[in-house]
Amino acid sequence: SNRSAPVLALDGPSGSGKGTIGQICASQFGWHYLDSGAIYRGLAWLAQDHNVSVDDVAGLVALADSMELTCHVQENDVAKIEINGQFVTAELRTEETGEIASQIAPLAPVRASLLAMQRRCRKAPGLVADGRDMGTVVFPDAEFKVFLTASAQIRAQRRFDQLKSKGFDVNLARLLESIQARDVRDSSRAESPLKPADNAYVLDTSDLSIDEVVASIMDYVNKR
Ligand code: DC
Repeated sequence: SNRSAPVLALDGPSGSGKGTIGQICASQFGWHYLDSGAIYRGLAWLAQDHNVSVDDVAGLVALADSMELTCHVQENDVAKIEINGQFVTAELRTEETGEIASQIAPLAPVRASLLAMQRRCRKAPGLVADGRDMGTVVFPDAEFKVFLTASAQIRAQRRFDQLKSKGFDVNLARLLESIQARDVRDSSRAESPLKPADNAYVLDTSDLSIDEVVASIMDYVNKR
């Protein structure tokens, strides 16, 4: 890892557009991209696969320490995720996996075990890191910090469209409920809660197109 490589920390709740926006920014800068949510989802998937329950902290830490996660970035497509030799890209995107990820994410020993893996992604020429605590905990010295928000209703609709287009059978009302429950859990936890870093550029994307959000972030980065 290279401590001096610049980082753009991109945090926000699920459905705020971080993933899409982050990958576009990374490709425009020619920087690396870290989807930290995939790490939590990856551990959630491993736990399900190994029948480790969400309250078995020692078991989860052991799984986290042994997890080998590779992110194969694709041109014009979502990154393919490989865990311990298995491709699990679609499995990680399910609501169930997101739900379990959100349940194990509050555990301090689990977060500590996943910290080094995330910091190793900081490499020249730079890194766009997307998650909940990129600007607050993982890369507190990031040069650029952006916090994306959007109303729960709009985020549920976006998630609905996204899952639908991938062929998943989804229910909008249930998605909204699960997004609201996840917001509460992610924001109210003691360990690395979801909140904007000091000095973060906070951007509400509810009424913005993807291009407008990217342009606004580019403007912020260029002015700093
Ligand atoms: O961004 P996402 O929906 O893929 O994240 C899934 C869960 O992982 C989310 O509910 C909270 C957790 N998470 C986290 O605690 N810290 C991060 N940096 C990224 C994700």
